[in-house]
Amino acid sequence: MAQGYDPYESVVSTIRKAAELAGYREEDYITLCYPERSLEVSLPVIMDDGTLRIFEGYRVQHSTTRGPGKGGVRFHPSVNEREVAALAAWMTLKCAVVNIPYGGAKGGVKVDPSKLSRDELRRLTRRYTAAIGPIIGPEQDIPAPDVGTDPEVMAWMMDTYSVMKGHCIPGVVTGKPIEIGGAVGRKAATGRGVLFTVENTLKKMGKTIRGTVCAVQGLGNVGGSTVRLLDEQGAKIVAVSDVSGALYCKEGLPVKDILAWTSVRGHLLADLEVPGAQRITNVELLALPVEVLIPAALENQINGANAKDVRAEVIVEAANGPVTPEADAILLEKGIMVVPDILANAGGVVVSYFEWVQNIQSLYWDETTINEKLRDVMDRAFEEVWDMKEKHHTTCRMAAYAIAVQRVADAKNIRGIWP
Ligand SMILES: NC(=O)c1ccc[n+]([C@@H]2O[C@H](COP(=O)([O-])OP(=O)(O)OC[C@H]3O[C@@H](n4cnc5c(N)ncnc54)[C@H](O)[C@@H]3O)[C@@H](O)[C@H]2O)c1
Repeated sequence: MAQGYDPYESVVSTIRKAAELAGYREEDYITLCYPERSLEVSLPVIMDDGTLRIFEGYRVQHSTTRGPGKGGVRFHPSVNEREVAALAAWMTLKCAVVNIPYGGAKGGVKVDPSKLSRDELRRLTRRYTAAIGPIIGPEQDIPAPDVGTDPEVMAWMMDTYSVMKGHCIPGVVTGKPIEIGGAVGRKAATGRGVLFTVENTLKKMGKTIRGTVCAVQGLGNVGGSTVRLLDEQGAKIVAVSDVSGALYCKEGLPVKDILAWTSVRGHLLADLEVPGAQRITNVELLALPVEVLIPAALENQINGANAKDVRAEVIVEAANGPVTPEADAILLEKGIMVVPDILANAGGVVVSYFEWVQNIQSLYWDETTINEKLRDVMDRAFEEVWDMKEKHHTTCRMAAYAIAVQRVADAKNIRGIWP
């Protein structure tokens, strides 16, 4: 966590502002400011060299008001309880804004997965699954991939949970490999949702995607599929980056060649030569004069220190929390529109929802059906947010939060406080 930045404070301050905009009294939404349940676990793992290491892990269920908890598992060295709680709260809001019947949750382990062997990673994943086992399940809380985890990690989680329960339970996690109940299209779903959001935003600006100049920070699951899909639709990708730095070419980058390299586990952009491309830093990428800037790496990337340098026309948040509230105020002043994470990157959780529904029914859809259903959900949510923004003369973020807070607060108030 960057010094002085508390992501949970950031999400709560936005919830409060949105609740005011939607006309709610504090007692109507105050439960949303606190996570329902937070579990901290310590995970002993025997490393390949025979030594014992203890890892620190979390699972936070922010809300189960509208359905089971839902949210990814992050394996990253900066994982901490406040960050996981913030990510869980964003999940609650995200599921509400696209109106799928979930609450919000998130998990994480403080670890750099690139420093573990595959066997160590598997042992850590199994131990983590066993430790959070008592509070997860298809009807309680359903994990999925996030930064540093992938379908293989989900397969280990599903297997561990099923072995512990004594029968096959595919619906305990989503983002699984297809062979064990994953949904076709899930891997690219977050990126596809970002693509639909970029298209919808450009349409409101009287533009189309063909030829639109884009820069994307992060080339993992989300950034990689976003770049691929934007390229397929004819966008001009002038800059991409990963943790090792960025590449920039004003005439457009050879996206297919770059993705062929970065899609291999462990491959970094710093080790790739791209003729005609200039090496720049991640900070410089965020300040490029582009039409659409897509941060798809981590939170707190555009903040009080660098927001004044942003020259994009629109920012579409593919990552969770990449723009801080302080930066939001500066960008608003500069007339730069920000399409918020809880709308823009919801494609992943929407297709996760389809995966879970299919697991429960044991009935599977084809990719065309899934992509069409995803498009319907994303388009409807975008129009609802846009209408709210126009009605209240506010930002897209406030509008999305207002819709989400309204849905969760109304559900909470209808259910009532127990006992
Ligand atoms: N995976 C999903 O389905 C999903 C869904 C919704 C939102 N998200 C969010 O999207 C973001 C990315 O998730 P992902 O699943 O693609 O993760 P990932 O681990 O697959 O990829 C992360 C990418 O960010 C880069 N990166 C890491 N640290 C960086 C830094 N300091 N500066 C620049 N780049 C850096 C990595 O090199 C990598 O390219 C996260 O905020 C995550 O919470 C993910």
